[in-house]
Amino acid sequence: MDHLWWQTGVVYQIYPRSFQDSTGNGIGDLPGVISRLDYVEELGVDAVWISPFFTSPMADFGYDVADYCDVDPLFGTLEDAERLIEEAHERGLKVLVDLVPNHCSSEHPWFVEARASRSAPRRDWFVWRDPAPDGGPPNNWLSVFGGPSWTLDETTGQYYRHSFLKEQPDLDWRNPAVIEALQDVLRFWMDRGVDGFRLDAVMLGGKDLLERDNPPAHSGSAHKAMGAWDAQEHVYDLGDPFILEVFAGFRKVVDSYVAKQDLADQVAAVIPPDRVLIGEVHQFDLEEWATYYGGAGGAAGAGDGAAGGAAGAGGAAGLHMPFNFGLFKTPWTAEGVREHVETIERVTRDRGWPNYVLGNHDEPRLTDRLGEDSDRLAAMLLLTLRGTPTLYYGDEIGMEQGEIPPEQQIDPWGLNVAPELGRDGCRTPMQWNSGPHAGFSTAKPWLPVHDNRAFRNVAVQLDEPNSLLNLYRRLLKLRQKHQALHRGSFRSVDSGNDNCFSFLREAPDAPGHFKRMFVALNFGDEVIHVVTPGPCRVLLWSHAPGEDLNLVEMLRLGPKEGAIAVVFG
Ligand code: GLC
Repeated sequence: MDHLWWQTGVVYQIYPRSFQDSTGNGIGDLPGVISRLDYVEELGVDAVWISPFFTSPMADFGYDVADYCDVDPLFGTLEDAERLIEEAHERGLKVLVDLVPNHCSSEHPWFVEARASRSAPRRDWFVWRDPAPDGGPPNNWLSVFGGPSWTLDETTGQYYRHSFLKEQPDLDWRNPAVIEALQDVLRFWMDRGVDGFRLDAVMLGGKDLLERDNPPAHSGSAHKAMGAWDAQEHVYDLGDPFILEVFAGFRKVVDSYVAKQDLADQVAAVIPPDRVLIGEVHQFDLEEWATYYGGAGGAAGAGDGAAGGAAGAGGAAGLHMPFNFGLFKTPWTAEGVREHVETIERVTRDRGWPNYVLGNHDEPRLTDRLGEDSDRLAAMLLLTLRGTPTLYYGDEIGMEQGEIPPEQQIDPWGLNVAPELGRDGCRTPMQWNSGPHAGFSTAKPWLPVHDNRAFRNVAVQLDEPNSLLNLYRRLLKLRQKHQALHRGSFRSVDSGNDNCFSFLREAPDAPGHFKRMFVALNFGDEVIHVVTPGPCRVLLWSHAPGEDLNLVEMLRLGPKEGAIAVVFG
């Protein structure tokens, strides 16, 4: 079977508050996103994932949803969402929406109803427990955003559980009625044409049935220090295997939507399902992480990557892809990255299609994490590995972490736990041009635009042939054009140099495609010379525009430089 779009394509994440404001209130919105779709198309990505734009009191900037099936007035209307989907499709872009299934807003009618009394009809859609004998919370579980994950509801005298803010009560995933309601949400958006979902915080849906206390931690298990949360080993409050059944159920619903839903059944049967479920899974034991693909042995995209939808003998199909955040934790060295990529290749072999993430709305900006001198190397790595890359808005122009003075910080994580966990800095407005507010809005934006907007912006970089943005555009086009890069096999190559990570991407012969590509990435600070696996012609350098016409058998790479070459013979 052939590969599907979400395997060969590149996902571009848009944080809608910060992409483009169309109303002049300083907050980005859906019509704003629509007005920038030409830019996204020309960038050369294949899909947009849009962070939540649903009705919300915005306690967590939209990750607290009060109506899964409507658009918050701040962002526009349901018609705007439908128009966005349509306009994206007209440009050949797929659309992923962000479903937040672990919790809703405390203002969602489900919770308002549930908290009214102990016998309320939807009481059991949430998790209510009597106080412990001392009157305190029923166990020691913590909220990611600080304090216990239990809040006492004075009216009914019981605690309710929340993995994040108290304004984000956890839905009870052990209640089949809740799962059905969430599946209806999937249907609602697929009926409107969305091509898939990013599922938020899904590991936290898997809590221990016996609600045992977490033991003290041996070491922080996440990729960054998480404050008080790190004091516990999170064995009982996340990742309980029963969530695999939940994913299997979601998967069934999503896979039942074929490319053209209205086709007759017998025709539908031969069209592979092509909508995608991508889960936010923070699991850094990669063997464990891979189990989120669902049953081993023949699951979707196994091995070299056919796209089959069914799971193998090992069990039901799970997520099409759990996000791989491994590169957030991997040392930024040739050896570290090679080891990570080889591990991903190994653990996904019989499971599913790999993927890589280098930035999102929860992490400090790529440029700040890796250093500005690594921007180009990171771009080349992300877009040449085997697997689906996810690119965060603004990383293509090297946007830096905004410096938000403490009194202007608004992210609850930073406010409640530790300023360094605050995510405002990676959510500052997209920098379109050197004009007022960087072309993002006509009014003062909800977060300050970075001071570097005068030179780090789309307009300036489009005009500069050797800009980071033009490197991204060239990389994306090259990747789109050649099967070796977007679906070919992967094999590490020993370049004989410790600072160099090099590999071959190879696809069967096809007209108009180069069959074998050699990628060499110098993670070091010295010039290196890399022997190529045969006569090569460089198609793309990370630091210079244009390709080389000469055949070479040795590449000279400057510090943090990379190259992609076609190998002949
Ligand atoms: C996920 C989101 C994050 C949000 C949290 C609660 O981790 O990526 O932005 O705050 O879930 O929904």
